[in-house]
Amino acid sequence: MPSVLRSQATALITGAASGVGFATAKLCREKGMHLALVDIDGANLQKAKDVLTALDPSLKTEAYTIDVADEAAWADLGKEVTEKFGEVDLLMLNAGKGFKAEGQLEGGRIKTWTDTGYWKKTLDTNVFGPLNGLSVFLPLLISSPNKSPKSIVLTGSKQGITNPPGGANPAYNSSKATVKHIAEHLSYDLRSDASTSHISVHLLIPGWTWTGLMGNVGPTDEKEVKKPDGAWYPSQVAEYLSKGLDEGAFYILCPDGETDRALDQARMRWGSDDVIEGRPALSRWEESWKVKAEEWIQADAKSRRNGA
Ligand SMILES: NC(=O)c1ccc[n+]([C@@H]2O[C@H](COP(=O)([O-])OP(=O)(O)OC[C@H]3O[C@@H](n4cnc5c(N)ncnc54)[C@H](O)[C@@H]3O)[C@@H](O)[C@H]2O)c1
Repeated sequence: MPSVLRSQATALITGAASGVGFATAKLCREKGMHLALVDIDGANLQKAKDVLTALDPSLKTEAYTIDVADEAAWADLGKEVTEKFGEVDLLMLNAGKGFKAEGQLEGGRIKTWTDTGYWKKTLDTNVFGPLNGLSVFLPLLISSPNKSPKSIVLTGSKQGITNPPGGANPAYNSSKATVKHIAEHLSYDLRSDASTSHISVHLLIPGWTWTGLMGNVGPTDEKEVKKPDGAWYPSQVAEYLSKGLDEGAFYILCPDGETDRALDQARMRWGSDDVIEGRPALSRWEESWKVKAEEWIQADAKSRRNGA
């Protein structure tokens, strides 16, 4: 099947003013695609538009400043994008953010249970953002008379799978677990019906990536950005996504400079075995389990690397 990343196709990308979204927009531009760029950060979005336009002024590049949590703004966006581009071939619902809990009680962990606003903000952006986008653009993708391959990418996170407690951000982890479930259902639904099977769905699972979430905000030039060795540049994630799309992979699980695929696999296996083995929740981080968990994970990763 020809890739969705093809010349003259159109990509709509949320969170396009920075990090993974901007890097993917740049890769799409290098493939000759038209770009509908969406972000809440109007100033960085304009910079992104300028950089991407300069790469090929003959292609369409439009910037739309909206909050992805705003359902009404998505309805307007649907109309404006259709007017400008006709149709969208790649819908990348990528904008996401980690919020901090505020509250009167001391201690980060307790605050997360007393500040429901923090949960609402997180879920509004990370879950309703993609859902709002789907509610407007999925019908447009399906009703398009052009049946060439189209793709929907949702950006999840390893935190939505392994659910680490250390960062005291259960709302972020929950939002990304929900994104995983949404993508899985959507993939199943679309591929189960012959009339929609040309629309593929993919869950992008970045590793540790040096983006705005880490302080590298905006459409920065990676040649000028210093990052820790263990982190990937956003362009590495975009390249990995491109490879995953070409291969038709649903789970596009990115490694990074310190975590290879085998280690991710072992950590995920340990986490799902908590349920199967009846261990305490999040046993990997539990005092009485943590040494055993780490030994098992390292041994499992090693045998995976050796092809056992
Ligand atoms: N950086 C990582 O290590 C990492 C790891 C796993 C998953 N992710 C996910 O990757 C995605 C992209 O993030 P990134 O790391 O590139 O960070 P980033 O901060 O560089 O980019 C995110 C972009 O989303 C925009 N955004 C945030 N809230 C928005 C809203 N309500 N409406 C519209 N735009 C909004 C921001 O303005 C920003 O430009 C996110 O979903 C994030 O959760 C990142």
